[in-house]
Amino acid sequence: MYKLLNNKNKMDVHLKDCQAWKDEKLEMSTTNNESAKLFDDVIHQYVTWVENDQNGGIEGTLKLLRESDPNFAMSNVLSIGLELMGTGRTVRLDTEFRTQVENLSKNKNLNERENLHCKAVVQFANDEYYKACDTWEEILVNYPNDILALKFAHDAYFYLGNSTMIRDSVGRVLPHYKLSNDFYGYLRGMYAFGLEEMNLYDLALKYATEALTLNPTDCWATHAKAHCFEMNGQTNQGINFMKSTENDWSKGAMLACHNYWHWALYHVEKGEYDLALGIYDQQVSQRVSSGAALDIVDAASLLQRFEFQGVNVEDRWEQIYDICRPHIDDHIMVFNDSHFLMSYLSTNKGKDEPTKKIFMKSVNDFIKNSEATTNYNIFSDLGVNLFQGLIAYKEKRFDDATEFIYPVKNNIQKIGGSHAQRDVFNQLLLMSCIQSKKKENINLGLSLIHERKLVKEDSPLTDRMMSKWLACHTTLD
Ligand SMILES: [Fe+2]
Repeated sequence: MYKLLNNKNKMDVHLKDCQAWKDEKLEMSTTNNESAKLFDDVIHQYVTWVENDQNGGIEGTLKLLRESDPNFAMSNVLSIGLELMGTGRTVRLDTEFRTQVENLSKNKNLNERENLHCKAVVQFANDEYYKACDTWEEILVNYPNDILALKFAHDAYFYLGNSTMIRDSVGRVLPHYKLSNDFYGYLRGMYAFGLEEMNLYDLALKYATEALTLNPTDCWATHAKAHCFEMNGQTNQGINFMKSTENDWSKGAMLACHNYWHWALYHVEKGEYDLALGIYDQQVSQRVSSGAALDIVDAASLLQRFEFQGVNVEDRWEQIYDICRPHIDDHIMVFNDSHFLMSYLSTNKGKDEPTKKIFMKSVNDFIKNSEATTNYNIFSDLGVNLFQGLIAYKEKRFDDATEFIYPVKNNIQKIGGSHAQRDVFNQLLLMSCIQSKKKENINLGLSLIHERKLVKEDSPLTDRMMSKWLACHTTLD
């Protein structure tokens, strides 16, 4: 009943019962073997990104897990932690969720590792993202094979834009994983992504290729490789890679939208807008109804990039606005909010209703009423500038947009996401500079185009920006 198919050779993975968890020194305070196996099943799905349809995917398996032992503390850690990593729910707005999180602190008779897991999830839920990471690292020092702590930390570092720890958190435990471990290859895929975010593309490709040799459906390793091609300007290699392996990575529905987004980016780079729009319409737009934050930001990011290139996206923003609007008070991540804001500013609905004012008031109220958490700092130090910059750009106040965004450019990694994802803000700044009226902002644009071109030489998109700059401004005077 709880069988999970191994992606590589279609053999059953042996899910751990209570004794097996104990044998791995990861004892849990349930005596229910069914719960222990279901817990392992969800973890396999989380790590591999491929859902177990036999149990109804992650959602279905979590439901079975809750029913099997409602008092199993680690089951609640897993369930709430996954909600938090989805970045779609917050205890600030959701009383039911807040109660669930508060109950984590009321568990009695847990072992030291379980208590730390509860503590980390409560910290993350209360916007203390770095404290949560410290707690997960505390677990990993003593329990390097605790894959759940590692995955939560990996995701959290990604949301903090902490490239070093996306890599090194995995690097610290990698030697503990032997080939016989189900996750041996997947950890290499995770490490590959960390290497890529540290701009170590050759090494990242080596690890990602090894991961994919072991598990061709490893969507995260595919993703790491897609990033390398993106950052190196190897668009043709990227397109060929995504096309030739599509049947493997598209099985991972939780990441497929994002991997299609990467594929579309290559075409945007090349100026092949019809092909990119085709991927948007056939894949991204179809998958965004999942409501997953990652899918929503991908859709908004892609539409915004089309508009920077002068592509008419017609009424495509309307769908994204409808999905984003219920999240107007979220303020879980500046990265998410800024993409939601793009949709508010790009639709007739958003223009008719003064959504941007409602949004900015909500942001300011959040900052005014929040304690000095990690998230508060990111919103107050970076978010407000970024949001004001977006609003100014959409209102064609390009000098204002430049002057809001440029001061946060060099710290923008702290809003989270990857280099490739945050490039939408680099493009926003460049497009603002190019269309500015003030000499210093126009000249800044040229400097930033030079900066961009030297980092990624083979970039038709940067070349088009240079052409646009030259068409608008012929000299530095
Ligand atoms: Fe990505």
